[in-house]
Amino acid sequence: MWQEQTELHEIYCLTAAKQNWRKLIAFGDTLQLELKRKLLWIWPTTANVLKFNQALSELQIQNILSIGCGSGLLEWLMLAAAENRFNIYGLERDANWWCSKYAVKSFVPLNYVEHARLNAKLLTDCCAGVYPCALLFCYFNDRQAFLDYLNIFVGNWLIIIGPQPNLGIHTDPNPLQAQLPTEQWALHSLLQWTEHNIVAFYKKLT
Ligand SMILES: C[S@@+](CC[C@H](N)C(=O)[O-])C[C@H]1O[C@@H](n2cnc3c(N)ncnc32)[C@H](O)[C@@H]1O
Repeated sequence: MWQEQTELHEIYCLTAAKQNWRKLIAFGDTLQLELKRKLLWIWPTTANVLKFNQALSELQIQNILSIGCGSGLLEWLMLAAAENRFNIYGLERDANWWCSKYAVKSFVPLNYVEHARLNAKLLTDCCAGVYPCALLFCYFNDRQAFLDYLNIFVGNWLIIIGPQPNLGIHTDPNPLQAQLPTEQWALHSLLQWTEHNIVAFYKKLT
């Protein structure tokens, strides 16, 4: 417990300055799996983050709404590496938990599912600009909620991060087996993240 507190303290110090994002990833490599998972489901490498940000630039995606972002550490890494060239909004459920003393600190400002009116505004704001916007699901695991979000999303891009299929790790949606309505969404591109994870970019067919 004492060790975990010390390590968390180090994480909080590192995330105080954007230029520490590489150090943060290196520090993540030294952590025990339990704390790593508490902070972030998969820890990307620096090359993974740079490739992801490059893909966002190529697709001109400027705003991202990350659903079920947890602590938001992944989103912090992406933003820090991109020097805030795009915006990420985070959405979570259970404000009581995330605001409690037991939860880890949030690394991006969190919005909560319970605040229904704010969420509608969030989805609108995310796509209000002239640039394309995206919904992001990383290790999300609720099919019905995923479909509900997709139904009200007016943007053109969907990003799903998760495990390669057939590894015995279940997420829903899975990036390669997203089971999207084919007349509405098409797979645009894939990135390999770490040895076992995939980032899939899907484009809405207009
Ligand atoms: C496995 S965790 C992944 C967290 C984070 N994306 C990551 O990669 O570390 C799934 C997250 O989805 C959140 N979640 C589940 N259902 C949700 C919903 N309907 N709306 C928003 N978030 C939800 C959970 O609270 C949980 O934090």
